[in-house]
Amino acid sequence: MTRHDERFVRYLESKEAVDDRALHRPTLSTLVDELSDRAEARPGEPLRVVSVGAGTGAMCRRLLSWGVFDAYDDIKYIMIDRRKGMSDQASAAFAEWSHGAGWEASPTVDGFQIERHGRRVALTYVTGDLFDATVEIPQAIDLVVAHAVLDVLPLQRALDALITRLTDGGLFYAPITFDGRTAFRPAHNADSEVLDAFHETMGGDNASGPETGSNLLSALPQSDASIVSAGGSGWVVTPPYDDGERFFISRILQFVEESVGAHGGVGEATLRGWLDTRHKQLEAGGLSYVAHNLDILAKLD
Ligand SMILES: C[S@@+](CC[C@H](N)C(=O)[O-])C[C@H]1O[C@@H](n2cnc3c(N)ncnc32)[C@H](O)[C@@H]1O
Repeated sequence: MTRHDERFVRYLESKEAVDDRALHRPTLSTLVDELSDRAEARPGEPLRVVSVGAGTGAMCRRLLSWGVFDAYDDIKYIMIDRRKGMSDQASAAFAEWSHGAGWEASPTVDGFQIERHGRRVALTYVTGDLFDATVEIPQAIDLVVAHAVLDVLPLQRALDALITRLTDGGLFYAPITFDGRTAFRPAHNADSEVLDAFHETMGGDNASGPETGSNLLSALPQSDASIVSAGGSGWVVTPPYDDGERFFISRILQFVEESVGAHGGVGEATLRGWLDTRHKQLEAGGLSYVAHNLDILAKLD
């Protein structure tokens, strides 16, 4: 794994606690209710889940830990991510987590299986682009999870690829979908210039752009999936922070530096001055960060 990948994995690890706090609980509760109704209506059938842009599988571990899949004893969970090396990171994270949580893990041909108190979860990791990988998946999926990823994908193409894999009444869960606002405090006179440019870098032909969360509210119904629950899941990180939160904000500043720097819309001196101030404030424990996200749960009509 390159140094860049290591930093990305560390970013995902630091993001877990921020996501834990942010996730919209009413939408999660609705997901639990929907899955429980589904299990009751289809006795004996396993729960089949596909998670795209799965990273190290944090959302799978979280949903299992939080009891979201408790209506099912047999779960088949496929994770897809195009980033090489991520499957090894996911395996290591699952091995550590399953051991701590009392699951017994055993390797399978394409992943591994964990078992506890008669419940089985078959975990498969696919390294590849979701547009290629989903074609291979039968149209028999109960739940698609798209966690913190839709804003970096072409939205309609992604919805077409994913929704067509769902069975009747299948569910589409898109937690932590970025929705257009980034703020740092205390205010800085270059905030608008830098952060508007940051949001502009999120657009283009191959990404859904900064308002993906809101756009999903109309794109999903247009794709025959009705919204059953939605709500805000903003990231809010304020001092005093622990090491993970400090790293998380430093990584967000790095994203701003890389994307705005490459985009060229902001003068070098302005960007440098803004970044220097923000890093100093972070070091001094005086910088707050807010990003607006939405969690959306939809159901195939
Ligand atoms: C911001 S990360 C989120 C990871 C994980 N869902 C989490 O929140 O912990 C987005 C992930 O999507 C993956 N990704 C982006 N475009 C993809 C594509 N077209 N196919 C598969 N994975 C993709 C990236 O490699 C990255 O790991």
